[in-house]
Amino acid sequence: MKLLVTGGAGFIGSNFIRHVLETHPEDRVVNLDTLTYAGNLENVRDVEGDPRYRFVHGDVGDPRLVREAMGGVDAVVHLAAESHVDRANLAAGEFLRTNVGGTGTLLDAARELRIARFVQVSTDEVYGSMAAGAARESDPLNPSNPYSASKAAADLLARAYWITHRLPVVVTRGANTFGPYQYPEKVIPLFVTNALENRPLPLYGDGRQVRDWLYVLDHCAAIDLVLRHGGDGEIYNIGGGTGIENRELTRRILRLLGKPESLIQPVTDRPGHDRRYALDASKLRALGWAPRHSFEQALETTVGWYRTHEAWWRPLRSGLFTQYYDRQYTNR
Ligand code: NAD
Ligand code: DAU
Repeated sequence: MKLLVTGGAGFIGSNFIRHVLETHPEDRVVNLDTLTYAGNLENVRDVEGDPRYRFVHGDVGDPRLVREAMGGVDAVVHLAAESHVDRANLAAGEFLRTNVGGTGTLLDAARELRIARFVQVSTDEVYGSMAAGAARESDPLNPSNPYSASKAAADLLARAYWITHRLPVVVTRGANTFGPYQYPEKVIPLFVTNALENRPLPLYGDGRQVRDWLYVLDHCAAIDLVLRHGGDGEIYNIGGGTGIENRELTRRILRLLGKPESLIQPVTDRPGHDRRYALDASKLRALGWAPRHSFEQALETTVGWYRTHEAWWRPLRSGLFTQYYDRQYTNR
């Protein structure tokens, strides 16, 4: 199969490309990525010499380039997005342009080129905060921040291309993902790298918010399964089933690093902070997926990876990152 992967220089995209090349030797991958602050060719350095892999530098909102990159492919796995909630809360423009507009451009090209499968990588955030229970695919969407609203728009747009045009779309709604190569603005890599530098860990509000943690390799295996075996027009939740409070997550990170809890710094809460996410992933399990990594083991592996890959994250925590960090966290 020949795939177009968008956002393949990002966190999940780079792990997904590696997963595909390792598990499907016959596959070929085109990676279309515009290399925003979160896109990093170091994430795919190990595959750049592989004859089955090609990188195209460009924007998913550029119709000409998108048609060119999509030429001759069997399927599109669309991951490119502005992905950080706190940045969307600072300014939403790029989120609308890329997450909604870019998805529309890709869908139009896929329709014109009669692409046989379009995987829209969506998020559990589209359901909004879950007071109790676990979200099912048939639940109404209730996004509550500008990032999740932009992802919900893209999710619905992709489904609309199935309903209206019979473009064979499948939607995945993944939970909070963690692992190697995650840009150090998201809570796990941020807290690990802050702790390694003996800097405070800014825990929002009371720290009792719950996320459903999913290891990146389990997320990639799920997207891959849905790509090949998902039903046209279907939606699949991808949940790790590990709901823990942020304050407990933070303590575990500190324990793994042998650092004191005094590094935890409670700060003003994120505006509109969703209290709890939880997914019912039984539909995907019925298709044959189950997470293969326990949360405890995967967290330890991840913390160990950041500890041994300072050369990867150190350059990312300077320049523009410092400006963002100061704006986001100073006087909070
Ligand atoms: P990321 O921020 O690490 O990577 C995003 C990638 O998209 C980057 O390489 C960036 O350069 C690229 N990109 C951004 N705008 C682009 C544009 N206009 N054209 C081309 N490329 C562009 O994000 P991630 O965490 O890897 O998330 C990937 C996808 O998975 C996103 O769609 C996100 O909404 C979704 N998702 C993420 C999580 C999570 O916890 N990280 C969970 C569920 C779903
Ligand atoms: O649930 C899926 C979503 O998970 C994805 O769609 C998003 O792309 C991804 O960024 C992630 O969103 P979250 O907002 O849940 O992740 P983040 O790592 O930003 O925050 C996780 C939790 O930690 C959340 O409750 C906020 C809290 N937090 C985060 C940061 C950055 C803090 O307490 N302090 C922080 O500094």
